[in-house]
Amino acid sequence: MLIALLPGDGIGPEVIAQTRRVLEALSIDSLDFEEALVGGAAYKATGHPLPPETLDLAKRADAILFGAVGDPDCDALERHLRPEQAILGLRKELGLFANLRPAKLFPELADASALRPEVASQIDMVIVRELNGDVYFGEKGMRTTADGKREGYDIMSYNEDEVRRIARVGFETAMARGKKLCSVDKANVLETSQLWRDVVIETAKEYPDVALSHMYVDNAAMQLVRNPGQFDVIVTGNLFGDILSDQASMCAGSIGMLPSASLDNAKKGLYEPIHGSAPDIAGQGKANPLATILSAAMMLRYSLDHAQEASRVEAAVARALAAGARSPDLGGSMSTQQMGEAVLEAL
Ligand code: NAD
Ligand code: IPM
Ligand code: MN
Repeated sequence: MLIALLPGDGIGPEVIAQTRRVLEALSIDSLDFEEALVGGAAYKATGHPLPPETLDLAKRADAILFGAVGDPDCDALERHLRPEQAILGLRKELGLFANLRPAKLFPELADASALRPEVASQIDMVIVRELNGDVYFGEKGMRTTADGKREGYDIMSYNEDEVRRIARVGFETAMARGKKLCSVDKANVLETSQLWRDVVIETAKEYPDVALSHMYVDNAAMQLVRNPGQFDVIVTGNLFGDILSDQASMCAGSIGMLPSASLDNAKKGLYEPIHGSAPDIAGQGKANPLATILSAAMMLRYSLDHAQEASRVEAAVARALAAGARSPDLGGSMSTQQMGEAVLEAL
């Protein structure tokens, strides 16, 4: 099995290095790694954030382990050359439309959460975020209005097939958990969301055992901090899912703790922490690698048929935390490498 390692920018290479050590320590037969440049690092070396060789490796690989992209040096580039285009391009080119972002509080981290411990301890949910559509991929541009003003625009749209396939992932995810699905939209204002809601309701007929509810995104943002324990599975669009998952991460202790899987309809997947390249702490050994290590566990489970090893990695993370492993984001002072070593030791 071939794993494409795409470390990227900022703290990406730091968290990927620790994750690779954990994967290698599992001694799984026939696990090969091949690394390629992506994001700002790829732009600086080749002039393109997603070079053809990198896309080719991603296509050939059984799974992709991705660090993060984003580099302040590149913020002034034309949009198609910016590092972020690499992750958007991979998601689109590989048809990775279903993004699973589980948010769960490890009991040891109750004090790290931005919420009161008794509220935080309830969080155990999955955000199912659509990843190939929405305002991210609609027509966008800058133009000049008739009266000479600059105007930016980004078209938001979903068609019913796109909504139905992600709704099914939401229902299936709920079926495998607590059988509660909350669809988050802005149907009171957006036509895109009205279609979303209609199609989710139609799809619910295929899943009579799932309790479906609907919530406007502004209320959902509030409910996430008021009482995150009410959610089992949330299904939502690309933009709302992006925002709500960062928020959920702080309910669960830190943005450095949340993993993700981006899946197609088969077994191919890209696995990455939900956080970015964190330029403010890059190169200082301060990044928490656990979100990436937990993403590798998702990779073992969903793409590599190694559910047992996935559970071993997750248990090792829990044991490392129980033994006191804390990076700065969790209120401690351990380095990225020491956090990786704590997981290795627990393994
Ligand atoms: P960010 O997630 O990189 O950082 C936000 C804050 O969280 C920062 O203070 C950072 O230090 C902290 N943080 C993030 N990950 C951490 C970790 N593992 N351990 C400890 N602290 C951590 O978001 P941002 O600052 O808005 O964006 C920085 C760059 O990353 C931008 O270029 C952005 O486009 C990019 N980005 C990329 C991805 C991705 O590659 N999938 C995701 C989000 C942001
Ligand atoms: C994420 C990031 C990306 C997104 C950016 C970097 C394109 O924020 O993976 O959550 O918005 O999807
Ligand atoms: Mn994001």
